[in-house]
Amino acid sequence: MPPLDLLDAKRQAAARALDFVVPGMRLGLGTGSTAAEFVTLLGARVAEGLKVICVPTSEQTARQAASLAIPLATLDEQPELDLTIDGADEYDPALRLIKGGGGALLREKIIATASRRMIVIADETKAVDTLGRFPLPVEVNRFGLEATRRLVKREAALCGCAGEIALRMAGTDAFVTDGGHLILDCHFERIQTPDDLGARLNAIPGVVEHGLFLGLARAVVVAGLDGVRVLGHPEEDD
Ligand code: A5P
Repeated sequence: MPPLDLLDAKRQAAARALDFVVPGMRLGLGTGSTAAEFVTLLGARVAEGLKVICVPTSEQTARQAASLAIPLATLDEQPELDLTIDGADEYDPALRLIKGGGGALLREKIIATASRRMIVIADETKAVDTLGRFPLPVEVNRFGLEATRRLVKREAALCGCAGEIALRMAGTDAFVTDGGHLILDCHFERIQTPDDLGARLNAIPGVVEHGLFLGLARAVVVAGLDGVRVLGHPEEDD
Protein backbone atom coordinates (compact mmCIF):
# COMPACT_ATOMS: atom_id res chain seq x y z
CA MET A 1 0.00 0.00 0.00
CA PRO A 2 1.35 3.50 -0.80
CA PRO A 3 2.13 5.77 2.16
CA LEU A 4 -0.66 8.01 3.43
CA ASP A 5 -0.91 11.31 1.55
CA LEU A 6 -1.40 13.57 4.58
CA LEU A 7 -2.81 16.56 2.74
CA ASP A 8 -5.27 14.38 0.89
CA ALA A 9 -6.29 12.69 4.15
CA LYS A 10 -6.90 16.06 5.79
CA ARG A 11 -9.02 17.11 2.81
CA GLN A 12 -11.03 13.89 2.93
CA ALA A 13 -11.75 14.27 6.64
CA ALA A 14 -12.72 17.90 6.09
CA ALA A 15 -15.03 17.00 3.21
CA ARG A 16 -16.80 14.34 5.29
CA ALA A 17 -17.27 16.82 8.12
CA LEU A 18 -19.09 19.16 5.74
CA ASP A 19 -21.91 16.58 5.74
CA PHE A 20 -22.70 17.64 9.30
CA VAL A 21 -23.18 21.29 8.36
CA VAL A 22 -26.73 22.39 7.60
CA PRO A 23 -28.00 25.80 6.48
CA GLY A 24 -28.48 28.32 9.24
CA MET A 25 -25.90 26.82 11.57
CA ARG A 26 -23.72 28.84 13.88
CA LEU A 27 -20.31 27.24 13.43
CA GLY A 28 -17.03 27.31 15.31
CA LEU A 29 -14.07 27.19 12.94
CA GLY A 30 -10.92 25.47 14.18
CA THR A 31 -7.28 26.27 13.66
CA GLY A 32 -4.46 24.33 11.99
CA SER A 33 -3.75 22.72 8.65
CA THR A 34 -6.69 20.28 8.81
CA ALA A 35 -9.16 22.93 9.92
CA ALA A 36 -7.86 25.13 7.09
CA GLU A 37 -8.93 22.46 4.59
CA PHE A 38 -12.41 22.54 6.12
CA VAL A 39 -12.54 26.33 5.90
CA THR A 40 -11.55 26.17 2.23
CA LEU A 41 -14.32 23.68 1.45
CA LEU A 42 -16.82 25.65 3.53
CA GLY A 43 -15.88 28.79 1.63
CA ALA A 44 -16.76 27.07 -1.63
CA ARG A 45 -20.15 26.06 -0.23
CA VAL A 46 -20.79 29.58 1.01
CA ALA A 47 -19.97 30.89 -2.47
CA GLU A 48 -22.65 28.51 -3.77
CA GLY A 49 -25.20 29.99 -1.39
CA LEU A 50 -24.89 28.11 1.92
CA LYS A 51 -25.96 30.38 4.78
CA VAL A 52 -23.96 29.95 7.99
CA ILE A 53 -22.42 32.26 10.54
CA CYS A 54 -18.98 31.36 11.84
CA VAL A 55 -16.83 32.15 14.85
CA PRO A 56 -13.11 31.57 14.24
CA THR A 57 -10.78 30.13 16.90
CA SER A 58 -7.78 32.23 15.87
CA GLU A 59 -6.73 35.33 14.00
CA GLN A 60 -5.22 33.02 11.38
CA THR A 61 -8.53 31.27 10.75
CA ALA A 62 -10.37 34.60 10.82
CA ARG A 63 -8.12 35.89 8.04
CA GLN A 64 -8.62 32.76 5.93
CA ALA A 65 -12.39 32.75 6.42
CA ALA A 66 -12.66 36.47 5.64
CA SER A 67 -10.68 35.98 2.45
CA LEU A 68 -13.30 33.42 1.39
CA ALA A 69 -16.19 35.76 2.28
CA ILE A 70 -17.45 33.39 5.00
CA PRO A 71 -19.75 35.41 7.30
CA LEU A 72 -18.02 35.89 10.65
CA ALA A 73 -19.14 36.87 14.11
CA THR A 74 -17.47 37.18 17.47
CA LEU A 75 -18.33 34.78 20.27
CA ASP A 76 -19.89 37.72 22.09
CA GLU A 77 -22.26 38.21 19.15
CA GLN A 78 -22.95 34.46 18.86
CA PRO A 79 -22.33 33.03 22.34
CA GLU A 80 -24.06 29.70 21.60
CA LEU A 81 -22.83 27.68 18.64
CA ASP A 82 -24.36 24.62 17.00
CA LEU A 83 -21.21 22.88 15.89
CA THR A 84 -17.45 23.35 16.00
CA ILE A 85 -15.21 21.57 13.51
CA ASP A 86 -11.56 21.55 14.53
CA GLY A 87 -8.38 19.51 14.15
CA ALA A 88 -6.37 17.83 16.90
CA ASP A 89 -2.79 16.90 17.57
CA GLU A 90 -3.77 13.57 19.13
CA TYR A 91 -6.92 11.64 19.95
CA ASP A 92 -7.30 8.50 22.02
CA PRO A 93 -9.95 5.74 21.90
CA ALA A 94 -12.11 7.71 24.37
CA LEU A 95 -11.97 10.72 21.99
CA ARG A 96 -9.88 12.69 24.44
CA LEU A 97 -7.61 15.14 22.66
CA ILE A 98 -4.38 17.05 22.82
CA LYS A 99 -4.68 20.35 21.01
CA GLY A 100 -2.69 23.53 20.80
CA GLY A 101 0.12 22.60 18.43
CA GLY A 102 -0.83 25.75 16.55
CA GLY A 103 -1.06 27.76 19.75
CA ALA A 104 -4.80 28.43 19.58
CA LEU A 105 -5.86 26.12 22.42
CA LEU A 106 -7.48 28.77 24.62
CA ARG A 107 -9.89 30.11 22.01
CA GLU A 108 -10.36 26.60 20.66
CA LYS A 109 -11.46 25.35 24.06
CA ILE A 110 -13.69 28.36 24.76
CA ILE A 111 -15.41 27.91 21.40
CA ALA A 112 -15.70 24.10 21.65
CA THR A 113 -17.26 24.51 25.10
CA ALA A 114 -19.71 27.08 23.74
CA SER A 115 -20.81 24.62 21.04
CA ARG A 116 -23.50 21.98 21.32
CA ARG A 117 -21.21 19.62 19.44
CA MET A 118 -17.52 19.46 18.58
CA ILE A 119 -16.44 17.23 15.72
CA VAL A 120 -12.73 16.66 15.20
CA ILE A 121 -11.18 16.12 11.79
CA ALA A 122 -7.87 14.29 11.58
CA ASP A 123 -5.66 12.00 9.59
CA GLU A 124 -5.01 8.63 11.16
CA THR A 125 -1.47 9.55 12.29
CA LYS A 126 -3.13 11.48 15.13
CA ALA A 127 -4.49 8.30 16.77
CA VAL A 128 -2.79 7.15 19.98
CA ASP A 129 -3.63 4.62 22.68
CA THR A 130 -2.35 6.95 25.40
CA LEU A 131 -2.18 10.74 25.08
CA GLY A 132 1.18 12.43 25.50
CA ARG A 133 3.38 11.50 22.57
CA PHE A 134 2.61 14.97 21.21
CA PRO A 135 3.99 17.53 23.70
CA LEU A 136 1.12 18.89 25.78
CA PRO A 137 0.79 22.67 25.27
CA VAL A 138 0.07 24.63 28.44
CA GLU A 139 -0.77 28.31 27.94
CA VAL A 140 0.61 30.43 30.77
CA ASN A 141 0.65 34.03 31.87
CA ARG A 142 3.95 35.80 31.31
CA PHE A 143 4.06 36.90 34.93
CA GLY A 144 5.83 34.37 37.11
CA LEU A 145 6.75 32.13 34.20
CA GLU A 146 9.45 30.19 36.05
CA ALA A 147 7.33 29.74 39.17
CA THR A 148 4.47 28.46 37.02
CA ARG A 149 6.79 26.12 35.13
CA ARG A 150 7.93 24.59 38.44
CA LEU A 151 4.36 24.13 39.58
CA VAL A 152 3.45 22.45 36.29
CA LYS A 153 6.39 20.10 36.78
CA ARG A 154 5.39 19.31 40.37
CA GLU A 155 1.73 18.67 39.64
CA ALA A 156 2.59 16.62 36.55
CA ALA A 157 4.94 14.47 38.63
CA LEU A 158 2.06 13.72 41.00
CA CYS A 159 0.26 12.27 37.96
CA GLY A 160 3.28 10.20 36.97
CA CYS A 161 4.28 12.57 34.17
CA ALA A 162 7.86 13.70 33.69
CA GLY A 163 9.86 15.18 30.84
CA GLU A 164 11.12 18.41 29.42
CA ILE A 165 8.88 21.46 29.84
CA ALA A 166 10.01 23.85 27.13
CA LEU A 167 9.00 27.43 26.47
CA ARG A 168 7.69 27.52 22.92
CA MET A 169 9.78 29.76 20.71
CA ALA A 170 9.13 31.56 17.43
CA GLY A 171 12.63 32.08 16.12
CA THR A 172 14.65 33.82 18.83
CA ASP A 173 11.57 35.15 20.67
CA ALA A 174 9.01 33.42 22.80
CA PHE A 175 5.90 32.38 20.88
CA VAL A 176 2.97 34.60 21.88
CA THR A 177 -0.63 33.41 21.60
CA ASP A 178 -3.54 35.44 20.23
CA GLY A 179 -4.38 36.19 23.86
CA GLY A 180 -0.86 37.53 24.57
CA HIS A 181 0.25 34.55 26.65
CA LEU A 182 3.17 32.10 26.42
CA ILE A 183 3.14 28.34 25.88
CA LEU A 184 5.00 25.61 27.75
CA ASP A 185 5.29 22.43 25.68
CA CYS A 186 5.34 19.48 28.07
CA HIS A 187 7.10 16.39 26.73
CA PHE A 188 5.39 13.82 28.92
CA GLU A 189 5.21 10.95 26.36
CA ARG A 190 2.46 9.14 28.32
CA ILE A 191 -0.37 10.81 30.23
CA GLN A 192 -2.01 7.96 32.11
CA THR A 193 -4.54 10.09 34.02
CA PRO A 194 -5.54 13.03 31.79
CA ASP A 195 -8.49 14.04 34.00
CA ASP A 196 -6.28 14.29 37.08
CA LEU A 197 -3.54 16.14 35.20
CA GLY A 198 -6.04 18.52 33.63
CA ALA A 199 -7.60 19.35 37.00
CA ARG A 200 -4.19 19.90 38.60
CA LEU A 201 -3.05 22.19 35.77
CA ASN A 202 -6.28 24.19 35.98
CA ALA A 203 -5.62 24.80 39.68
CA ILE A 204 -2.26 26.55 39.03
CA PRO A 205 -2.88 30.33 39.02
CA GLY A 206 -0.38 31.08 36.25
CA VAL A 207 -1.89 28.49 33.92
CA VAL A 208 -4.37 30.10 31.56
CA GLU A 209 -5.45 26.83 29.88
CA HIS A 210 -4.05 23.48 28.84
CA GLY A 211 -4.35 21.48 25.66
CA LEU A 212 -6.17 18.46 27.12
CA PHE A 213 -9.67 18.49 25.62
CA LEU A 214 -11.60 16.03 27.75
CA GLY A 215 -15.22 15.19 27.11
CA LEU A 216 -15.51 17.84 24.41
CA ALA A 217 -15.25 15.90 21.13
CA ARG A 218 -18.48 14.18 20.14
CA ALA A 219 -16.84 12.46 17.20
CA VAL A 220 -13.60 12.18 15.26
CA VAL A 221 -13.70 12.03 11.48
CA VAL A 222 -10.49 10.23 10.63
CA ALA A 223 -9.02 9.69 7.18
CA GLY A 224 -6.44 7.00 6.53
CA LEU A 225 -5.27 4.41 4.08
CA ASP A 226 -8.59 2.57 4.37
CA GLY A 227 -10.69 5.67 3.70
CA VAL A 228 -12.72 7.86 6.05
CA ARG A 229 -14.29 6.62 9.28
CA VAL A 230 -16.40 8.43 11.83
CA LEU A 231 -15.65 7.50 15.45
CA GLY A 232 -18.17 8.39 18.13
CA HIS A 233 -21.58 9.92 17.71
CA PRO A 234 -21.55 13.01 15.53
CA GLU A 235 -25.30 13.46 15.16
CA GLU A 236 -27.04 15.99 17.31
CA ASP A 237 -29.62 13.71 18.90
CA ASP A 238 -27.28 10.86 19.85
C1 A5P B 1 -4.18 24.63 16.95
O1 A5P B 1 -3.88 25.27 18.13
C2 A5P B 1 -4.27 23.16 17.19
O2 A5P B 1 -5.08 22.77 18.24
C3 A5P B 1 -4.66 22.41 15.94
O3 A5P B 1 -6.02 22.19 15.86
C4 A5P B 1 -4.01 21.12 15.97
O4 A5P B 1 -2.68 21.41 16.26
C5 A5P B 1 -4.12 20.34 14.68
O5 A5P B 1 -3.39 20.99 13.70
P1 A5P B 1 -3.08 20.31 12.31
O6 A5P B 1 -4.38 20.03 11.67
O7 A5P B 1 -2.26 21.32 11.56
O8 A5P B 1 -2.30 19.07 12.60
